[in-house]
Amino acid sequence: MIWFGGDYNPEQWDAAVWAEDDALMRQARVNTATVGVFSWAMLEPAEGRFSFDWLDETLDRLHGNGVRVILATPTASPPPWFTLAHPDALPVRPDGSRLWHGSRDTYCAAAPAYRAAALRITGELARRYADHPALAMWHVHNEYGTRCWCDHAATAFQAWLRGRYGTGPAGLDALNEAWGTAFWSQRYSAWEEVLPPRATQYLPNPAQSLDFRRFWSAELLSAFVAQRDLLRASTPDVPVTTNFMGPEGLVLDPWEWGRAVDVVAVDHYLSATAAAAGHADIAFVSDWARGVGGGRPWLLMEQAPSTVIGPDGLQEHRPPGRMLRDSLAYVARGSDSVLFFQWRASRSGAEMYHAGLVPHAGADTRIFREAVALGSALERIAEVSGTVSGSRSVPGSGTVSGSGAAAVIVDAESRWALETRGLPSPRVRHLDVARALHGALWRAGIACDVVRADGDLSGYRLVLVPAVYLLSTAAASSLRRYVADGGRLVVTFGSGIADPFHRVYTGGYPGALRDVLGVCGEEFHPLRPGESVALTLGGERSTPDGGRGTLWTERLRTDGATVLSRYAEGDLAGLPAVTRNAFGAGTTWYVSTMLADDGLDDLLRAVAGEAGLAVDGVPVSRRVDEDGNSWLFAFNHSDAAVTVPASGLELLSGQEVAGTLELAPGDVAVVREA
Ligand code: GLA
Repeated sequence: MIWFGGDYNPEQWDAAVWAEDDALMRQARVNTATVGVFSWAMLEPAEGRFSFDWLDETLDRLHGNGVRVILATPTASPPPWFTLAHPDALPVRPDGSRLWHGSRDTYCAAAPAYRAAALRITGELARRYADHPALAMWHVHNEYGTRCWCDHAATAFQAWLRGRYGTGPAGLDALNEAWGTAFWSQRYSAWEEVLPPRATQYLPNPAQSLDFRRFWSAELLSAFVAQRDLLRASTPDVPVTTNFMGPEGLVLDPWEWGRAVDVVAVDHYLSATAAAAGHADIAFVSDWARGVGGGRPWLLMEQAPSTVIGPDGLQEHRPPGRMLRDSLAYVARGSDSVLFFQWRASRSGAEMYHAGLVPHAGADTRIFREAVALGSALERIAEVSGTVSGSRSVPGSGTVSGSGAAAVIVDAESRWALETRGLPSPRVRHLDVARALHGALWRAGIACDVVRADGDLSGYRLVLVPAVYLLSTAAASSLRRYVADGGRLVVTFGSGIADPFHRVYTGGYPGALRDVLGVCGEEFHPLRPGESVALTLGGERSTPDGGRGTLWTERLRTDGATVLSRYAEGDLAGLPAVTRNAFGAGTTWYVSTMLADDGLDDLLRAVAGEAGLAVDGVPVSRRVDEDGNSWLFAFNHSDAAVTVPASGLELLSGQEVAGTLELAPGDVAVVREA
């Protein structure tokens, strides 16, 4: 079964609407409702006084209607009484200003009063609903991510730092060394002197800022684990998760959190109007979610049925037909669910214009009809649930005919470090570069896993390193070993520059990988918005038209590598831009500038070809089970009909496919392969 449904907030409605909800959920074949995410004030109307009647009734009603419940702990939104009683638990910004209640997420997870209150309501829920037959999963909190710079946070930060660097004077010495406090007279002589990186006169200490980001990921994780363990004690067989924001919104280290949840659950809000970019976005986020969960099936916990407020503040809608195609694109890449925020659009409250599966206009609407069609499609492909997807686990993955196994490294710490003020360019963002490389593989129809920097790379034919700015010596050694053993590694600018304490590796950039790449960088020349530089086609100085580089350039010399293209103008004219090097039994490429999409496509298609990965450009994915059964998902995102080689039973139409599958523009097909 594919979990289908979404956030359900019946406390906003009356009994007549509940009855309609039940009927419409049956019509749409909804089988899952996430309940109670923001219900703390309903469940605990005053400190220590609990009121569960409406939740009892809701769970009973859903159960009677065949709908399973993902029951949330409501701790992302403390009630007003809590903040009035415990003002010290309200979050404080870097400038010292304290926020008030009136929205949501107004708490500091390092405040003892908040932690105690969160565990109290969680314990009550665990006790009351442990044996409820509707309970299918626990959903702890909502999108963990609130950070705080208050005194409670300072105390917890100091404790975390003592855990990292050691207690007593030796620990402080280690911290002083790691943070480079010799500069600007920052040397600490007592733990109480070490504070969160609060608003200050000029640039903050980069290592302190990085450690504070690590600290908050760990502090929030400990808040999650405390709730998780309480729930597990009551219901050892009910899986516990929490919904992660997508990669950009997430302030947590997904690799650490991925290990702590029973199943990875992700909220993904796509910019619906960005057609091609939207499809690539789904592919990237899905591969990321699957990677964070160690390759196992994951859950799409929230997506928008249609409208979201876009970056310019304007409401955007999801174009007709996209609900099904987009939803199956997540399933193709390993999601066992298609869940939405939210079931019914609210008529009041902060998100009243956020789409619901049942819009304000009711059930006689395009969106609800698409939801009904989606529910029935998901029933027809239910057999894929529990099977796996992915570049390495899928023989012949990525292309219909070829074989493939590629991976891109994603690293939260590099992302955080690159966001530090005072770096050579504020515009180099790890996730942008990761998405660009992943997108080039997606356009080529090559399946790609998302892996961690120190992960197991064996078995991948191609590994991409996108502005992975921080590399530990251990992670660098693992990359070195991967190449020496015959791997192919594409490394971009901004990678391997600093160690995990944000200290630059000296002797030439990128210090952690110079030998593997056979290059040595002397100077960074980042580009301004709108600036670009011409590149030569090939390593000869005289052949122009190798496309253009943006964002970043650097003064590079080779130290064993072959030059594939050079800068064709400016201060760097004639110097290497893209290089290639043989190392052990493997090959590396170094890309010192941000190639435009076509340049990146050309390079990665050539590299993939060398790696033996077939390149055919039709977005297909497979899910497979342990017995070798496989399901091919094929999408036509283009405006013209396409054909895909395939044989088996197409599950959405029930038609047999013998050799060739025809896909009209906008179509999607799921073939149980013969
Ligand atoms: C998040 C939250 C939901 C809701 C949606 C709206 O993912 O978890 O509560 O606010 O965004 O897009």
